[in-house]
Amino acid sequence: MMLKGKDIISIKDLSEKEIFEIFEVAKEMVPIAKGRSLDLLKGKVLATLFFEPSTRTRFSFETAMYRLGGNVISFADPKLTSLSKGETLADTIRMVDSYSDVIVMRHSYEGAARLASKFAEHPVINAGDGAGQHPTQTLLDLFTIWSHIGKIKDLNVGLIGDLKYGRTVHSLAIALSNFGANLYLVSPKGLEMPDHILREIREKVKPKITDDMNSIIGDLDVLYVTRIQKERFPDISEYLKIAGSYRVDLALLEKAKKDMIIMHPLPRIDEIAPEVDYTPHAKYFEQAFNGVPVRMAILSLVLGVR
Ligand code: NCD
Repeated sequence: MMLKGKDIISIKDLSEKEIFEIFEVAKEMVPIAKGRSLDLLKGKVLATLFFEPSTRTRFSFETAMYRLGGNVISFADPKLTSLSKGETLADTIRMVDSYSDVIVMRHSYEGAARLASKFAEHPVINAGDGAGQHPTQTLLDLFTIWSHIGKIKDLNVGLIGDLKYGRTVHSLAIALSNFGANLYLVSPKGLEMPDHILREIREKVKPKITDDMNSIIGDLDVLYVTRIQKERFPDISEYLKIAGSYRVDLALLEKAKKDMIIMHPLPRIDEIAPEVDYTPHAKYFEQAFNGVPVRMAILSLVLGVR
């Protein structure tokens, strides 16, 4: 019952013990996520407020709620809400909070979910705030690693891609360093991990930083690939200069350990060649599925039914 009523805004809001509690419940939820429904959340209402595009995060939260017997309210397009009439986010949140038991929100502004949590009595779960954090993605990422390898400590994990704007890697890097994994940070020039995250990581581990994937691929147990976050570039010509600058393909994988796993929060653009999907390394679709049991666990724990 540790998590009952709790907001999940940053991965730092959760202790190691709480994270493992989520994993244990998520493991039990896997058969339900595959179709055996349960009435655990009957009568409960989840509000999903997605002010930015989403496929996996929104659908997996909504599937999690429905498979546990709960209901979902949401809008199809933020332009169709009263925010477009000039209502403040605070007022929207107060009102949605009074209609629901838990709120999941994605917004383009860093700090938006934290702000929402100040105005809501019920738990608020951050489904991504700009280039800030994406804690539930990190939980399903860690769950995927833990289910495959059985541990996180001492693993060599490479985070590849847009480490500057990618919120998934901000949350994940902090969590991995807390768990004692060895971090390899690989990004094109100009898209390095921000200093404020590096400072936090360095309190726990000493990351290896490079722009050359070839030089480190053979060390890795986990390769976590991300896309370049085109929508966050203030100047599109800067994006065009680095678009397509890295790609995981079969030639690169020849140098990898046999049991290295490849993960990606998705959507993928061109950073993983499609033929990689058919190798035993590819775990990104399973990772996306894990969003359902992990979010079932999160919802049932914050709603206090587990
Ligand atoms: C990620 C996001 O929205 O930050 N997607 C997701 O939630 N699976 C990654 C991305 O958009 O690149």
